[in-house]
Amino acid sequence: MGVQAQTFGRGVIRKYRGWLPEIPDEAIATLGEGDTPLIPAPRLSERVGTDLHLKFEGMNPTASFKDRGMTVAMSRAVAAGNRACICASTGNTAAAASAYAARAGMACFVMVPAGKIALGKAVQVLAHGAEIVQIEGNFDAALRLSRRAAEQMGDVALVNSVNPDRIEGQKTSAFEVCEALGRPPDALALPVGNAGNITAYWKGFREWRDAGLADEAPRMLGFQAVGASPLVAGHDFENPETVASAIRIGSPASREGALNAVGESGGLIESVTDEEILAAQDLLAREEGVFCEPASAAGVAGLIKLALEGRSPGGTVVSVLTGHGLKDPAAVLDRVELPEPVPATFEAVARRMEAAPP
Ligand code: F0G
Repeated sequence: MGVQAQTFGRGVIRKYRGWLPEIPDEAIATLGEGDTPLIPAPRLSERVGTDLHLKFEGMNPTASFKDRGMTVAMSRAVAAGNRACICASTGNTAAAASAYAARAGMACFVMVPAGKIALGKAVQVLAHGAEIVQIEGNFDAALRLSRRAAEQMGDVALVNSVNPDRIEGQKTSAFEVCEALGRPPDALALPVGNAGNITAYWKGFREWRDAGLADEAPRMLGFQAVGASPLVAGHDFENPETVASAIRIGSPASREGALNAVGESGGLIESVTDEEILAAQDLLAREEGVFCEPASAAGVAGLIKLALEGRSPGGTVVSVLTGHGLKDPAAVLDRVELPEPVPATFEAVARRMEAAPP
């Protein structure tokens, strides 16, 4: 046990227990989530005109921020005696639910829009042995159906972010950001889909301030993809479309949480195009060495856009990279491909290297 405690991350429940709903020790389902790196981004800082840091949530056990909320939701479901869980998902929630359900010994159903989730996420669900229900509809329909299934089937825990335990777990990332910087940042930029995460960060920063650990809380800067931007447009999108499949959502369940976060913090919610998102994903990977999935680059895309328009927030800014780039290999392979092989001779290799850009 002593060795395990040293080599296995404590996970967000043990680390932040006093800030979370009550969970008995024996119910804790953890994979050592949290404690993700806050990476300085010197080259992008110059582009966006702020001191930019990247909170790389792709370093969680299932490679997205969802693990923080899922450890709390799943542990609470165990404590409540549930034997199965269900969620709707654009992919990452499904991957996290599948892994944490396996950990907890619980059956798991995930409902996803057919053919619309990234390959890596689908593979994760299959690997963990969850039941995947592909529906001929989008995420918003899947969430409606999952809510109904949880209500009517009894003993089935709904582990989407409409479950407040998910928000509680996710807010721990705000604590880590404050601890790493020694104070809250001046602004936090992040992608917004179903709007649970912006709601959770704002709750975390507020609680940190209200506990007297800081005088201020950051401005919350949320970014949606243009084709899936109901919070910017002020109305639901019936057919949301974006290359950033994780945030292809037309009717965000935590709409109010997002609008409160933006209103109370003096922040904003704006949209970025798919081109801007993919350009930001490339810059992150090529100039900073950090590979995130397309949706995760929306925060940086937004900061670049603000800087180009002379509206850079300034100060110290954290952008949350919500999921790992390996989740969505097709997003990269659609733009670049492996070159043809060359013969295994020095001449051929040298020719190939000389032809490459410096
Ligand atoms: N980034 C990634 C990589 C996501 O997977 C999600 C949401 C978001 C950002 C947006 O977070 O919904 O809290 O505003 N993914 C959910 C899912 C919807 O099913 O995996 P949000």
